[in-house]
Amino acid sequence: MPRAEIFEMGPRDGLQNEKRLIPAAEKIALVDLLSRAGFRRIEVTSFVSPKWVPQMGDAAEVMAGITRAPGISYAVLTPNMKGYEGARAARADEIAIFASASEGFSRANLNATIAESLERFVPVAQAAQADGIPVRGYVSVVTDCPYDGPTPPANVARVAAALRDMGCYEISLGDTIGQGRPETIDAMLGAVLNELPAEKLAGHYHDTAGRALENIDASLARGLRVFDAAVGGLGGCPYAPGAKGNVATERVAAHLARLGYDTGLDMAVIAEAADMARALRGPA
Ligand code: HMG
Ligand code: MG
Repeated sequence: MPRAEIFEMGPRDGLQNEKRLIPAAEKIALVDLLSRAGFRRIEVTSFVSPKWVPQMGDAAEVMAGITRAPGISYAVLTPNMKGYEGARAARADEIAIFASASEGFSRANLNATIAESLERFVPVAQAAQADGIPVRGYVSVVTDCPYDGPTPPANVARVAAALRDMGCYEISLGDTIGQGRPETIDAMLGAVLNELPAEKLAGHYHDTAGRALENIDASLARGLRVFDAAVGGLGGCPYAPGAKGNVATERVAAHLARLGYDTGLDMAVIAEAADMARALRGPA
């Protein structure tokens, strides 16, 4: 059976936008449950400014509290050297740097131009490499930006290539506001694939318009086999107005299974984790 992988985003992308400040113990319980589901990679938290994203202010506590299962890489986001120092102290197995394909979103999410953000990531990537910590890269707003409108595919390819040149082992392509369509995803991938092979790319699709599974199909046709998803479909980015959650892990896993891909996931544990993730959110 051909393999496809889901990179679980629930504890990070899923929870970062929740209004209720979720106690660290509840986040730890979610990560520990997800560790039994068969994921190879779980994004646990972000070492970002707590002024910008208060929900992730307990990153060190969450990382210290989880029970690590062998063979799982516990990943965190790091926007700058301060974040990197926190990630290293917390013994993150891998880190992610995150750039934008549009100037409007870069300013809103990182308080920097695209060029400034890439400059800021260079020492982070260098330090991680020196410490033997793998670095993943994100490009956000790959088809549509809430500030600048449609994103030209060439801009995504340029930023993805810059992250590759910094040593990122994989680039995750974010439809941050979930407005991509199979045609726009396909056109974007066409440009990015001129720079990077499909094995180095992942699809990170939010499901705002309900098209994430179709966008995954378009990406499978282009050779991608890694998809980011969050149990329960929770999430959104606080700096992307109107963005809804990542596509739900349980839906992607079932979809990939129907298409004949083996994800290695235990659907009963995933269902339990989806229930737990929804409960963490509290009353709407
Ligand atoms: P800034 O305000 O320009 O930064 O923000 P600064 O360097 O001036 O620092 C401001 C304050 O934050 C200072 O504290 C710093 O020490 C502190 P003060 O002196 O005022 O007390 N600070 C930090 N504290 C902890 N950890 C840090 C850190 N850095 C600074 N790492 C900055 C610039 C990049 C820090 C800010 O814009 C930021 O944290 N942005 C992150 C926003 C974010 O997390 N967004 C969500 C994740 S991205 C996403 O969801 C998209 C994705 O899912 C893919 C997709 O869907 O497209 C990945
Ligand atoms: Mg996201």
